[in-house]
Amino acid sequence: MRLDSDEFAADPHHAYDEMRRQHGPLVPVEVTAGVPATLVLGYRAALRILSDPAHFPADPRAWQAKISEHCPVLPLMEWGPSTSESDGEQHYRHRTAYLAVLADIDLYQLRGTVESVAVSLINGFCGAGTADLLDEYAIPLTVGVLEAVLGIPEQDGRELFDAMAGLRVAANARDSELHDNRFHTLLSNILSAKRSQPSTDVISRLTRHPSMLDDTEILAQTAVLYALGTEPTWNLIVNALLLLTTDSQFRAGFLGGALSVREAIDEVLFLDPPLANGCARYPRQPQAVEGLWLTVDQPVLISMTACNADPALTGERHGNRSHLAWGAGAQSCPAQSLASVIVEEALEQLLDALPDLELAVPASDLRWQPSAFHRAPLAVPVIFPPCPPLPLPQRESRR
Ligand code: HEM
Repeated sequence: MRLDSDEFAADPHHAYDEMRRQHGPLVPVEVTAGVPATLVLGYRAALRILSDPAHFPADPRAWQAKISEHCPVLPLMEWGPSTSESDGEQHYRHRTAYLAVLADIDLYQLRGTVESVAVSLINGFCGAGTADLLDEYAIPLTVGVLEAVLGIPEQDGRELFDAMAGLRVAANARDSELHDNRFHTLLSNILSAKRSQPSTDVISRLTRHPSMLDDTEILAQTAVLYALGTEPTWNLIVNALLLLTTDSQFRAGFLGGALSVREAIDEVLFLDPPLANGCARYPRQPQAVEGLWLTVDQPVLISMTACNADPALTGERHGNRSHLAWGAGAQSCPAQSLASVIVEEALEQLLDALPDLELAVPASDLRWQPSAFHRAPLAVPVIFPPCPPLPLPQRESRR
């Protein structure tokens, strides 16, 4: 199975069931044409791999050395001096810094930031009675909030977003390098400004952290926070919104007050997590997991979606947060509280303002991004009764 095919994107749940039926908990797949990997569908096998960095490190360099520099998934999987692809001592040092600066974020103030970004976006389309909630809401909201948290000025934020968008769709290695250079030059200028005039934002706090990260490390950390923090967050917003608008039981429960936005988010993190497959690990020696011999240095990808649906899992699932949507082990997502607050507040603001919104097309007509990693609709067109703009919130919100 090719994970970036339209066929897979159209019905991944069916594809996971079929793969599990034919192969068991570990399955040979292609991340894209000519890039083989093993996809883990079994929850216990996933936990074993994620909790054993000595045998299953996250460093992709040995794999990378063997594949073409034009491989389209390289920008997403290649090594960088950041936490997510490093192991051991270096990972510990970087992660300690992340965890400390993320823990310092005032979640009350963050709610205020989300509210103010949400209200100005809703005011941009509420009179029209129609919107694409991916492009006009979830994406600009996530990017605007994360930029405020990181301390990226608005004008630089726009350019940074363009560079990142260019990087994601770059057709060749030259384009990819161009966008990558632009992204890093912008971040580097922002970092110099923070060094001379520090504030209370995440980048300024990283410059002051006792682990004494140098500029290259801080740039890499900031790039990772921006890149890893944006796409899954905006996809979680729209995936939870789709559940609340298209699942009749959820919609009735929510409108009747029996179910909250939080419960819809937890349900999506279980059933359709935004990072559907990821947490790539690269076995250094030949070893067998669940009876399958893994190829040395070849990526082993965890299917968070399939592991969460593993039939071998027993027990009451409702309200249970044992899903793998945030990963597991020493490299699990350090920004769970931050992302949860952004998504929850984004949905509450939207549904408070436009309680009657509905999908403008049947759910079965939605098209999904053909991606090995993300579970993401290409657009979320909605309709609702037009309404006047909301008053802008009074509390001070941007850092
Ligand atoms: C709904 C939103 C999010 C989801 C589903 C998500 C999911 C994940 C997962 C599955 C991993 C584990 C990767 C691995 O094991 O290789 C991860 C790691 C990470 N995430 Fe998130 N994430 C989200 C939001 C964010 C946000 C908002 C930020 C930062 C602002 C962030 C920063 C990171 C970082 C830095 C790592 C690497 C941690 C390490 O290697 O120590 N994530 N995330």
